Amino acid sequence: MRRLQLLTGGESHGPGLTSLLSGIPAGLRVDLDLLRRDMRRRMHGYGRGGRMKIEVDEVEIRGGVRGGETLGSPIALWIENRDFDNWRAVMDPLEIDQKKAELRRLKSPRPGHADLAGGVKYLRRDLRDVLERASARESAARVAAGSFARMLLAELGTEIRSGVRSLGPIGADSPTPTWEEMLGVDEESPLRAIDRTREAEMVALIDQAADDGDTLGGAVTVIAHNVPFGLGSYTQWDEKLDGRLARAVMSVPAVKAIEIGAALTASRGPGSAAHDAIERGDDGQWRRPTNHAGGLEGGVTNGQDVVITAYKKPISTLRRGLPSVDLDTLEPHRSQYERSDVTALPAAGVIAEAMVALVLADAALEKLGGDSMTELEAHHQATLAQQRAWPRR
Ligand SMILES: Cc1cc2nc3c(=O)[nH]c(=O)nc-3n(C[C@H](O)[C@H](O)[C@H](O)COP(=O)(O)O)c2cc1C
Repeated sequence: MRRLQLLTGGESHGPGLTSLLSGIPAGLRVDLDLLRRDMRRRMHGYGRGGRMKIEVDEVEIRGGVRGGETLGSPIALWIENRDFDNWRAVMDPLEIDQKKAELRRLKSPRPGHADLAGGVKYLRRDLRDVLERASARESAARVAAGSFARMLLAELGTEIRSGVRSLGPIGADSPTPTWEEMLGVDEESPLRAIDRTREAEMVALIDQAADDGDTLGGAVTVIAHNVPFGLGSYTQWDEKLDGRLARAVMSVPAVKAIEIGAALTASRGPGSAAHDAIERGDDGQWRRPTNHAGGLEGGVTNGQDVVITAYKKPISTLRRGLPSVDLDTLEPHRSQYERSDVTALPAAGVIAEAMVALVLADAALEKLGGDSMTELEAHHQATLAQQRAWPRR
């Protein structure tokens, strides 16, 4: 990111997670309800393992905010791991019980996880040293930071939502959703599915996979609505906003493919069916009867909704294990089971929203600038006036 910087720290079963977000201007009012709602939403979803019942993530603001307003300084956030007491003997930062640690040692790398690659890279004998940081638990720290980006975007009138588009084969052929469909996603429903009529089928598939000791993947779509015109740039490869969004959303654990707009369908048909006609309304607004491009042309936002779909592989930890090797004997051994989700698609959508919010807020700050929200808002209004007058002067 160019104007925002985000670092997170902390292990899955360690004392807690830290987020450090710098670049948010001074004078942004903190919406605690929004922050709490996002944290709760990340924990929601049918098919999650036992941990979601232990952890009630609460975010403590430890810096960068005073009296409910940001100061322009780095925002420091802390999320305690409620489970740490059960893990202290194994995960204490300074002193651990070697016998207990040996019992909890991960010694047969799980296919699909960072275990083998991370063990070889960092030369760790106990693969717990890898899994503790590679775990998707870290994403809680990103969601907390992403809420601040979302608060900033709300000041510009931009909203972001997500929903589960497909689970395994169910809904895999569904058309690219619209913002209106996103508004219909029930945050309290088991899967936050875009097509609610298929939710019961999805729940049954998860139950079946759980019985079989297996797991599932699928796709989530994120839509950003009312995004300012002209974020990102075609002038350099690394300024293109489609690439910046793809990188950020691809970093969500287990996401392995990204689609902007209706790219998959478009790639299978002719150009005449792929591109969105340009019209000018009587009110002076630019209109596009379709949005196959997903709100981005040349890596620049074009006034339409930004639409990005993330395809997530099935969860890697299978209760029945997968073929692996025991690191002590170097003999074949099925991979160890660590408490795990059957699917985490609804949560992946919430994390993807946070990543989209961070990238869009970054691009908005890059275009509009300002150390304070007052300046940002003034620049925004001035830019809107210039854009409305274009191309006449
Ligand atoms: C919200 C969320 C929860 C996840 N929970 C699990 C889990 O319980 N068990 C598991 O094996 N993988 C889980 N994953 C996926 C792994 O974190 C991920 O596949 C692994 O770290 C390897 O990274 P990669 O798939 O990005 O290469 C989860 C992912 C997300 C987004």
